[in-house]
Order: sequence, then C-alpha cells, then structure tokens
Amino acid sequence: MTLVLLICGSPRQPSYTRVLMRAVEKSLQDKGATTSFWDLREQPLPLLDPEFHENPAKNPNKKVHELVLLAEKADAFVLGSPVYHNSYSGILKNALDNLAIEQFEHKPCGLLSHGGHRSTQPMDHLMVVVRGLNGIAIPTRVCTKEEDYRTTDSSYELADADIKKRVERFAKELLKYAEHLKTMRAQ
Ligand SMILES: Cc1cc2nc3c(=O)[nH]c(=O)nc-3n(C[C@H](O)[C@H](O)[C@H](O)COP(=O)(O)O)c2cc1C
Repeated sequence: MTLVLLICGSPRQPSYTRVLMRAVEKSLQDKGATTSFWDLREQPLPLLDPEFHENPAKNPNKKVHELVLLAEKADAFVLGSPVYHNSYSGILKNALDNLAIEQFEHKPCGLLSHGGHRSTQPMDHLMVVVRGLNGIAIPTRVCTKEEDYRTTDSSYELADADIKKRVERFAKELLKYAEHLKTMRAQ
C-alpha cells in the first residue's frame, strides 16, 4: 500500500489549487494509492513553535501532532499552492516548518501550483525547500491558469485536456518514485 499525503496551501474557497489537487488525488486513488488530504483552510495550523524543530512529534498541539503522524506514515507527498507574490503561500510554508527532515527524508514530493499564466514560481521555490527537507521533488509538475477551468455554481472544474493528461502523468510518476524510494529506504 502506498500512502500519499496531499497538503493544500490555499485558504480560498473555492480554490483552483484545491480543485487541481482533488483531481490529482482521484488519479492517485484510481492507481491504487491511499490518500490523506490536508486542507489548510479547513485544518489550519498554529504558528510554528521552533521549540519542536528537532522533534515535531513532541508538539503538544493536536492538529500539528496529527499532521506529523500522517507525514511520518506517508510514502509520498503532494504540495500545492496558489501563486502568492511570485512564490508559494505562507500557510504552506508554516505547515512545512511544523515538520522536519525526519518526515520527508528520501520520499518523493510532487509539486502543483495555480496562478498567473501558469507560473512555475511556487514550485521552483518549493523545490529548494523540499531539498532542505531531504525529500525528492519529482520532475513532472502541474501548474494551471484560470482558463484551464470551467466555473460551476459554487466551484471550478478542471477542463483543459492537456492538463488532465498531465495530472495522469504526474500521479503515475509520483507512485513510481514512491515505490522505488520505499525500497531504497528499507535497505
Ligand atoms: C497574497 C496574494 C498574493 C498574490 N500574488 C500573486 C502574484 O504574485 N501573481 C499572480 O499572478 N497572482 C497573485 N495572486 C492571485 C492568486 O494567485 C489568485 O487569486 C489564485 O486564483 C489563487 O488560487 P486559489 O484559487 O487556488 O487560491 C495573489 C493573491 C494573494 C491573495
């Protein structure tokens, strides 16, 4: 069984990023993965307490503790963010700062972003952070713009055929990396 933890860094409702991440989650599930979706709008985290940087699992805050346990169990991560001031969102950084190398070491991380004209900046900046956590950012990434979606009554729906194909490629690649890196970690 491969467990993937998706962390959504948009506080907006509705959110393009969240819709993209849900499409990725479905694709991962269709390929046999088990997923956990951490939506930072619904499950906000407290401001990082550096006291627990060395051992995040010791953080007494219930929500942080829950996230740390999920991250520890995860074989792979998906990090998604809207473009905020040419980068990724602060709430996603705060979530990552509540975690540490122990949860990410030699695990694959798939990166997603939404905003601008398919700006890659959030993912470019996340790649550096993932490296700092000893994670492995996978080569395929997905970034979207507003025109890639159809607007429904209360939300959005992913509509662009090429992006849908890329979501499939992304999910397939993430699971392949998860499988290989799981073997590597076990050795
Ligand atoms: C704090 C903040 C900063 C933003 N900075 C940028 C930016 O630098 N470039 C850009 O194209 N859009 C920027 N935006 C617009 C968001 O990328 C846009 O609203 C996007 O739809 C958010 O994605 P979401 O629906 O998943 O939350 C910014 C929005 C906010 C709230």
